[in-house]
Amino acid sequence: MKHINIVNGPQSVSTIVQGCMRIPGLSNENAAKVIRTAYDCGINFYDHATCYGKDGAAETKFGEAFSLTGLKREDIYIQGKCGIYPDRGEFDWSKEAILSSVDGSLKRLKVDYLDTLLLHRPDLLFDPEEVAEAFDELEQAGKVRYFGVSNLVPMQIELLKKYVKQPIIINQVQLSLEQSQLIDQALYMNNKTTDMSLSRDGNVLDYCRLKDITIQAWSPLQVGMFGGTFVDNPDFPELNKKLGELADRENVSKAAIAVAWILRHPAKMQAIVGTMNPEHIKDICAAADVTLSHHDWYELYLSAGKFLP
Ligand SMILES: NC(=O)c1ccc[n+]([C@@H]2O[C@H](COP(=O)([O-])OP(=O)(O)OC[C@H]3O[C@@H](n4cnc5c(N)ncnc54)[C@H](OP(=O)(O)O)[C@@H]3O)[C@@H](O)[C@H]2O)c1
Repeated sequence: MKHINIVNGPQSVSTIVQGCMRIPGLSNENAAKVIRTAYDCGINFYDHATCYGKDGAAETKFGEAFSLTGLKREDIYIQGKCGIYPDRGEFDWSKEAILSSVDGSLKRLKVDYLDTLLLHRPDLLFDPEEVAEAFDELEQAGKVRYFGVSNLVPMQIELLKKYVKQPIIINQVQLSLEQSQLIDQALYMNNKTTDMSLSRDGNVLDYCRLKDITIQAWSPLQVGMFGGTFVDNPDFPELNKKLGELADRENVSKAAIAVAWILRHPAKMQAIVGTMNPEHIKDICAAADVTLSHHDWYELYLSAGKFLP
């Protein structure tokens, strides 16, 4: 496993992160096996959100299962996310919502602090001064060590930064071979023949690199948000052919090559994987030891339906 230092944030974090969105359905024993397998493969970073499962079910499951793993709290980094309220049908970054959300997460996870807290999706009514007050209180109380965001465009981060004292160290965004708008827009700039030239995120990739904000790529194997994985999916024959060739060459799985494609990007991203299958976790962690060439990276990108302008 490779590790990176997050600028102004936690040090020596694994480049592959275990996402916990899919953990609620597991038994405590199986959840403990997922957490422990990931750790034994070198993963030391676990991603949560209050909205993963009903009423914080992912956090509750993790909290119950963790005691069965033999691990100590300080062995791992735990990331929480707040702001999404599916039952209420809204996003809420008010001070009160942020503070009570973190208290709920700590209780369910059975921990005293979160290593990182991300604002999950933009509350269209957010007041950056209120967010700043909430972050100050959480930091002073020792409940959160570092702060970041998810799915945020550059100008919203700038607006937050005008008031928030703590560095914004992470932006968690969707990126996969299939869902690669983060990258596409730069390649096709000014090209009216394709929608891929559209900047849908205000060039957030370059912005984050300029501002030393680590990109965390969520759902690295998914088609869209709920389309299932593209790995071994007959709708993606060219991509699977290329993934298969490189997987054979490197003696790893196709899923590992898809994750290695993200880790090959010089922005030094983390990839957040969501499998709950311990064998898949082991397979995928091999990605961190694969270094794709410049040419491999382009071949994979083009096999996913892109073209050179
Ligand atoms: N910030 C945000 O807005 C946001 C949104 C969504 C997700 N996330 C984060 O991203 C994490 C990952 O999301 P995700 O679960 O959609 O990611 P993913 O790793 O792209 O997809 C995982 C899914 O792919 C399946 N899969 C099929 N074949 C696989 C193989 N060979 N190896 C590995 N997995 C395979 C897994 O099934 P098996 O379990 O059977 O392996 C699982 O259902 C979440 O847990 C969450 O932490 C963040």
